[in-house]
Amino acid sequence: MPSQPAQDDIPAPLFLALLGAAGDLAWRLVVPALYDLYRDGGLPERFALVGVDRKPDTAEAMRARCRDGIEQFSRLGLGDDATWQSFAARIDYLTADIEQAGTALAPRLAELTATLGEPPLAVYYLAIPPRLFGPAAHGLAAAGLEQDRARARLVVEKPLGRDRASFRALDSELAAHFQESQLYRMDHFLGKETVQNILALRFANPIFEPIWDRRYIDHVAITVAETLGVEHRANYYEGAGCLRDMVQNHLLQIFCLVAMEPPARFDADNLRDRKMDLLSALRPIPAAAVDEYAARGQYGPGWIHGSQMPGYRQEDGIAPASNVETFAAIKLLVDNWRWQDVPFYLRTGKRMAEDVSEVSIRFRPVPHQAWPAGAAADHGPVRLVLRLHPDEGMDLKLNLKVPGAHFALRQQDLRFTYREAFQAEPPKPYETLLAAVLAGDQSLFMRADQVDAAWALLDPVVQSWAERPADFPNYATGSWGPESAERLINGDGRGWLTPTLPPQRAG
Ligand code: BG6
Repeated sequence: MPSQPAQDDIPAPLFLALLGAAGDLAWRLVVPALYDLYRDGGLPERFALVGVDRKPDTAEAMRARCRDGIEQFSRLGLGDDATWQSFAARIDYLTADIEQAGTALAPRLAELTATLGEPPLAVYYLAIPPRLFGPAAHGLAAAGLEQDRARARLVVEKPLGRDRASFRALDSELAAHFQESQLYRMDHFLGKETVQNILALRFANPIFEPIWDRRYIDHVAITVAETLGVEHRANYYEGAGCLRDMVQNHLLQIFCLVAMEPPARFDADNLRDRKMDLLSALRPIPAAAVDEYAARGQYGPGWIHGSQMPGYRQEDGIAPASNVETFAAIKLLVDNWRWQDVPFYLRTGKRMAEDVSEVSIRFRPVPHQAWPAGAAADHGPVRLVLRLHPDEGMDLKLNLKVPGAHFALRQQDLRFTYREAFQAEPPKPYETLLAAVLAGDQSLFMRADQVDAAWALLDPVVQSWAERPADFPNYATGSWGPESAERLINGDGRGWLTPTLPPQRAG
């Protein structure tokens, strides 16, 4: 899983077509990341960025919009004027319906090919709603733009379907024209440094693998908590909900990296095969017992860090009796030799107490407590906590002797923090992922069978929740989620632990 490819790996030159160039995704995430990549020397010298959208506009207006997005959202900022001007000179804009984008783009690609004297790498980035993926792919293929199997690449982002059947329908529209090797299905969590580091930690250090199984690990809890609410995305979120928005993709990808077998090679198919081995060993969730495996919640009004916030149903654009969940927790069991009987608890939600993401691996107790009576009063379960965000790093919570004449144990953290260790700001996920598209590295992208397997797991939950209206709201803004999520884990005699906060926030 290389993050930033070496300059040599980047094919030159590049034709990047941004479909949906007038939209939010292009402006807020794709263009700023592309610019950061450019400033970091990650783009080939010869490249063209062609925006396509139905909004009648000029290249000049597209440049102004790109500049605005870069100024607001890029990691490195606009930089000096010469840098921006040379980037801006490569930007063009075509007004066309998304279905017709292929027809509009084909002559531009032909022109560039003639000027360069060789065909460029052609990346078609679909920054458009998924209902347009099929028509866009069809339009590109009608103009023959999918033909160069080695050089033409299509990038799409979630949501990829609402369930397994709709994913299959959507994907077959893409697969009708593009081969799997041309498809880059984004999950931006895979572009996060700390998420990628799970593999480095596990497979570059010999001390973890021997204990990374049911003999030593009691359970694993994965938390991705956000203080953000639904914001300006009511339309999308009302049709999606938390399970589809976060669990089906991001949380299951983190789970895969924690629980998969070691790959034989760090190539895309090998890594994705190992993830598939794991996903196909997941115990199916019985439709009749969904509540034993999953819990849902929706935030009501409350307070976060001293500010009062409305409930989900009071947010702009949300139905006053909305049944959409803003929190989801799920228990996974893996039927294989490594993980039999080791539960994985995943939870994520909006408007929770803190912005914090972590993987907490709890080890079994030592088989025999030989300490003098009372010595172990302050000891606790050994845990390895991978802090994905914020204050990225890890903690190993160990039991150590308290200095003094008496033998007493206390739990103490062995703490590592990326910021201190590396003193460098890592690239943002979109930058890493764009670089991987250019390098033709699919390891950071989801293969169709993974997405399909994730839906296969969650379909019973999706269906059961749709059929049974919930008693919402059931957790207060600023809390750690609903009671039902506590019951999900308490029922097994375990509990969620308050995530490890940075020292300044932990108080
Ligand atoms: C997105 C979800 O995929 O991920 C959002 O649609 C969520 O609802 C976001 O807020 C979280 O990503 P990040 O990078 O901010 O942790």
